[in-house]
Amino acid sequence: MRRPIARIAGLGAAVPATVVTNADLEKTLDTSDQWIIDRTGIRERRMLLPHECQSDLFVAAAKDALTQAGAAFPAVDTIICGTCTPDRRLPAAACDVQAKLGGGTAAAFDVMAACPAWLYVLTIAEGLIATGASRTILALGGDRVWSIVDKLDRNTAVLFGDGAGAAVVVPAVDERGILGTALGAEGSLGDLLHIPAGGSNEPPSEAAVRERRIYLKMAGREVFKVAVRRMAQACGQALDRAGVRVEDVDLLVPHQANKRIICATASEAGVPMDRVMINVERYGNTSAASIPLALVEAAAEGRLRPGMIALLVSFGAGFTWGAVVVRW
Ligand code: ACO
Repeated sequence: MRRPIARIAGLGAAVPATVVTNADLEKTLDTSDQWIIDRTGIRERRMLLPHECQSDLFVAAAKDALTQAGAAFPAVDTIICGTCTPDRRLPAAACDVQAKLGGGTAAAFDVMAACPAWLYVLTIAEGLIATGASRTILALGGDRVWSIVDKLDRNTAVLFGDGAGAAVVVPAVDERGILGTALGAEGSLGDLLHIPAGGSNEPPSEAAVRERRIYLKMAGREVFKVAVRRMAQACGQALDRAGVRVEDVDLLVPHQANKRIICATASEAGVPMDRVMINVERYGNTSAASIPLALVEAAAEGRLRPGMIALLVSFGAGFTWGAVVVRW
């Protein structure tokens, strides 16, 4: 088994207070509680209200992670935020979070890799620790997914929710930490899950808003198939690099996209369901917040204890995917 270079010293997560149930969605969409539960396993999700900010969720998650790590914010030298929904187009969400946490001059930047962005961030953080460029990294991941979802499109509106997660990543001191990582992407399939307008190619316009081209478009079935295959492959690759056998995985923490994808991925990866963390029923797909949010709950429930091997895996728009093996 590989000796870790970096470890997660503290973890935090935050979700908005406002709950949107399937019954709430039934009032505005041609859908049903039964359809949503059968196809996705989701019962409710959270939503930021118009006067609330995604950066405030990041700040709340970061504070919890720093407290758990026993670190003060001024010790943080690098802030990396995995998100595709920063508060504004510029600057990076990481810069807004830095200002809200008390300022300073830590390096701060965003990583745009959709749902697996937090796993990309963890991998980058490990690299920065390895080179000695950083010593204490705030690794954030989260999205205000409701800001990019068409509330009138039943194909997507039932699936997502808002949230944020945070980890404090520092040099490893013993056998606990990040053991192996695997990242990948397939940009040629980008059109299967994308937002057509609002970028530099088609800047925001009245027509783009009218035609609802500023919202997420998804080919659900195709996403499903590629997601399961790529996540299972990434699990194998990360385990190989970590020198860990799949039988030794104590807890698989997959991206909480929907229950059927989670079950299919666990089956392909060879992890029995009693070792799989699932909380999608309460939050839906929170994009880059999904895995840290599930990790926080797994730890709180006693399913993730020091020394255990956790396998984290995710997939999203790009397509992008990633897996990370951690000795907790
Ligand atoms: N309520 C009721 N009916 C609906 C809804 C809804 N919310 N959404 C779609 N339907 C209808 C469709 O219109 C279709 O009707 P039709 O047969 O009359 O044409 C029928 O239900 C079946 O639609 P499908 O899309 O074939 O349903 P499917 O079984 O594939 O389930 C789902 C759809 C849940 C989206 C599935 O494809 C899926 O999970 N895909 C993965 C998508 C995903 O998770 N994306 C998240 C981003 S990427 C990621 O995080 C991994």
